[in-house]
Formats: sequence, C-alpha cells, structure tokens
Amino acid sequence: MSNDAPRFVCQNCGHVAHKWMGKCPECGAWNSLAERQPETEVKARVPQKRREGAFSSGEDGPARRPQRLSEVEMSGETRLKTGVAELDRVMGGGITRGALSLIAGAPGIGKSTLMTELGKYLPGRKLLYVTGEESARQVKLRAGRLGVGSEGDDLLLFAETNVEAVADAADEADPDVLIVDSIQTLFRPDLESAPGSVSQVRESAATLRRLTKELECATFLVGHVTKKGAIAGPRVLEHMVDTVLYFEGDRHHAYRILRTVKNRFGAAHEIGVFEMREGGLRPVENPSEIFLAERGYGVSGSTVVCSLEGTRPILVEIQALASDSRYSTPERTATGFAQRRLQMLLAVLEKRAGLSFSDHDLFLNVAGGVTLDEPAVDLGVAVACASSFRDIPANTGAVLIGEVGLGGEVRSVGRVEPRLREAEKLGFERAVVPEGNRDGLAVPDGLEVVFCKRLTGVLEAVL
Ligand code: TYD
Ligand code: MG
Repeated sequence: MSNDAPRFVCQNCGHVAHKWMGKCPECGAWNSLAERQPETEVKARVPQKRREGAFSSGEDGPARRPQRLSEVEMSGETRLKTGVAELDRVMGGGITRGALSLIAGAPGIGKSTLMTELGKYLPGRKLLYVTGEESARQVKLRAGRLGVGSEGDDLLLFAETNVEAVADAADEADPDVLIVDSIQTLFRPDLESAPGSVSQVRESAATLRRLTKELECATFLVGHVTKKGAIAGPRVLEHMVDTVLYFEGDRHHAYRILRTVKNRFGAAHEIGVFEMREGGLRPVENPSEIFLAERGYGVSGSTVVCSLEGTRPILVEIQALASDSRYSTPERTATGFAQRRLQMLLAVLEKRAGLSFSDHDLFLNVAGGVTLDEPAVDLGVAVACASSFRDIPANTGAVLIGEVGLGGEVRSVGRVEPRLREAEKLGFERAVVPEGNRDGLAVPDGLEVVFCKRLTGVLEAVL
C-alpha cells in the first residue's frame, strides 16, 4: 500500500485502519473511523526561553546527554501545597512542579469549578487559566461566585484554543500553574483535522507536555469523558500525562470523588471527597460519616464494610435486597460493586451456606454513590445478601472485614489496623476480622474484634 493512501483513524482509541469500517476492530466503537490525510511533518516548537538562550546547554535544551544520578539537579521546591488535604492527598502530597495532569469527568461534574478554586487554594502563585469552552467573562462570573480572585490576584484568564498561542502566552507569563479547560477544544493550526480529533488532542497534549517540562509549571488538562466513562480522545493521552485523575459522582448527589488512577509522583488509588455547594466545592474530611449518615437500623440486608481507598480507610454501608423472582432468570443488579463478584459471592452462599438465590432477584447498592472494588468488602456484601434473604437484620454495630474465597473461607486482607482505627473513631463496638490477620494485630481500645475463619461462622454470629 502506498504511503499517501488515505488512512482511517478511530476517534475513540486511535487505531489506524487502511479502509473504512463501521466498527473499530480495536476498541469496538461504532462509526468512529474518520479519514485522515497524511500529515505534514509536525515541526517542533522552540519556546521563547530557549530561543533567548535561557538554557545553558544550548539549542538542544537541558541535559541532552546521560548524567550521573548525583549530577541530576533537584530544584528547591517541587511540591505546591494547596492546604486542602483532599486535594494534596490525591496529588501525592501536593501539586508537583513540572507535572502534566489530566483531570477527567462527565460534563457538569465540577471540573471547571475545581480548577477555578485552585486560585483560592494557591494564594501568591501565578495561575494561567486557558478557557476554550467558556468566555473569560463566564469564568470571571464563576470565580466571583466561588470567592476567587480579590484585588492583587495573580489569576490570568486566556480565552484561546490555538495551542501555539497558548504556548506563547505561557512562555511569556511563566505561571506556576497552567490550566487548560479543555484539551478537546485545543487545536494546532498545522494539522488539518478538527479540534477534539485524535491527532489534535494528541499533538496538543504533546506540545503542552514539552512546555510543562520546560517551564517547570504544573499543568492541568481538563478532559471530557465519553458516555462509557472513558476519556474522550486517544487512549495514548493517558500514557502521555504524569497523573490521571477522575472526577466522579452522581449528578443527583452532592458528593464528588476525585480519584487518582495513575500518578508518577505518588500513590495511585487515592481519593479526595468533596461536596458541591452553592459556593463551590467543600472538602469533606471525614467521608465515612456521610456515607453512614442514613444507615438503617434494624433493617435486614444492611451491613457496614471498610474499604481502603489508597491510604485512607472509608466505612460504607452496603444494602442488599433479595425478593422472590417472577422470571425464570432472576435479576442481579449491583450499583457500586462488580456484578461478577456479586454472582460469585451468591454462588458461594448457595454452595457453602445452603442459601439458594436461584428463585430470588437480588439488588445490591453501595450507599453514597461510592464504587468499591477491594476484595476486603466481600464479607460485608455476602452477609448483606444473606441477611436480606433470611430477612434477619445483621448487627450494624459491627464492621465486617474480609475477602471470601470460593471454598467459603474468609481470607486475610491487607492493612487491617487503619481500618480498625477508623471503625473505632466512628463509634463501632465490634469488628469481624479474618483469622489470618490475628497475629500481632494491634486492636484499638474500645473495639471488640471477632476473628473468623469461615463465612458460615460469620453468618451464625451476626444474623
Ligand atoms: P462545572 O465546574 O462547570 O462542571 P464541568 O466543568 O465539569 O462541566 O460545574 C458543574 C455544576 O456545578 C453546574 O451545574 C453548576 C454547579 N455549581 C454549583 O453547584 N456551585 C458552584 O459554586 C458552581 C460554580 C457550580
Ligand atoms: Mg467545564
């Protein structure tokens, strides 16, 4: 095939095909292939600082030869602390200079709000807010509502979508933090495709990446997600950035969770919890309290589990409802928990504890709109299902911790102690913990720990 034949690029995943197809063979998206003319060589941007000879090592930029580990220069202050624990934790202990972060989320979830509020969290820092979706006036209106930017502020607004112009402005302003809202609106004039297309998003991000490293600023790219929840644009975007954050939450609930999916400068899977208020996002320092606030007492099907989200233990209520099924294939619906894992736990309950769910529909709900994927919550989910099935309330004064194996055994989990401390702090009297975690376990005063080996034993104890 000749080199200049038109090629088709999947606008979802970046897959390149030589003929048009209705469905992308790589990611399975329908009607996502768009024709791409072969691109002219993209010329590398030379930033103003370098043009002016600001980099001592000349045209090639800093350090274009291997260096000894000991020779690598560390700049003095690498983290910008926001003072907001929910945000600093997610960023791995503060915003890292020279880091490119992607903050992704559904429309209306609060990405622009969070980015605007950075102006409040980082007083005395220079911020450059590039807005491609809203006018500068709109951003100012929002900033006013959020109480951002009194006189003497160092928040620069720039309504621009040409990435070259953005880069030049950043070069000139030399900000501490650069915000681009959103990456899908940017375009490079030397590429023919439309803003938001795979090549535009990729090349714009590449330009901003180079810029971020050169200016040693912290850059946030706001990204939209598709209906399925993936970041719109090429999947390579996730590999190009240093940090990927998801801003999640149910639009009908006030709570928003900022989750680190990837972090080159800290732990992944950290979460920060915020509440969306009239005056902006309020950090929620003790999320367990709100996730347990509406807990039902004396109702069957309710248990409390403790999930470790990054370094932080969170107590959440699990609700299950088993009801007689009217159909030959009973329904299984799980919100905030993996459907397959639920099926597995039901099979274990059936085989090892003699609870047959085959003529019962089962609905499982994790309260507060949280999603749990840690095996340590298995025990609480299994007990909630059994409790609803038998219609006997489980003891809600106890926190259930443990992974459930296919043999009906309760398996040990990692880092039990922070979970127990959180349970004790919130006034729980008892915790059910796997026998395998007994050795050397430090139990907080005022908390009774019941060790268990098998799921059947737990069911006898709490139901
Ligand atoms: P926004 O940050 O614009 O969402 P995104 O950039 O992710 O699309 O804001 C989303 C919603 O938040 C919007 O519907 C209005 C609401 N909101 C508040 O409730 N309080 C506030 O102070 C602000 C600024 C917005
Ligand atoms: Mg927005």
